[in-house]
Amino acid sequence: MKKLIVFISGNGSNLQALIDACAQNALNAEIVLVVSNKPEAYGLQRAAQNNIPTLVKVKAKDQTREAYDRELLEEVKKYQPNFIVLAGWMRLLSNTFLQAFPHQVINIHPALPHAFAGINAIERAFLAFQQKQISHTGVMVHFVPDEGVDDGPVIAEQIVEIFEDDTLEMLSERMHQTEHRLLIAALKKLVN
Ligand code: GRF
Repeated sequence: MKKLIVFISGNGSNLQALIDACAQNALNAEIVLVVSNKPEAYGLQRAAQNNIPTLVKVKAKDQTREAYDRELLEEVKKYQPNFIVLAGWMRLLSNTFLQAFPHQVINIHPALPHAFAGINAIERAFLAFQQKQISHTGVMVHFVPDEGVDDGPVIAEQIVEIFEDDTLEMLSERMHQTEHRLLIAALKKLVN
């Protein structure tokens, strides 16, 4: 059984999809640790409810990104994960960290490759649709080989349609549902 560590910063609905897939044996994997850089992240409660160990690691004010990542690396290494899943993790990981886990760090992003990297990707796609710049958006799961933002070899991608009468809430809901399915499909490719 493969060992997963999931990094979150917030709600953790993708984490929940992973928890459920593991529990239902849809994924031959075990989540051995959930890491959050935010103590208030709701995903931490989801982990606790499922008896998954958690690590809250807040960056100290005077701490450099490198120093934070070195400490995080030491903690994470102890668990010997097969894969680290960035599921709404809102910090850029440095090469120091990433090079310790080649082909093992994966990210889910609510946009297609080379479109809307960075934050608020769903909102930006919704606006671009209204301005007739795009006809659809999508979701991707990709490896994180380096410090490039939402960029790296794609494991799975899925188009998500945008409709004329969509509200941002409707599109966001459709995007998140697609994410939950695609994340599990991508991980199945890697672990099963
Ligand atoms: C998702 O849209 C994910 O693609 C992005 O951040 C969001 C996290 O949502 N990177 P959740 O915390 O999994 O609910």
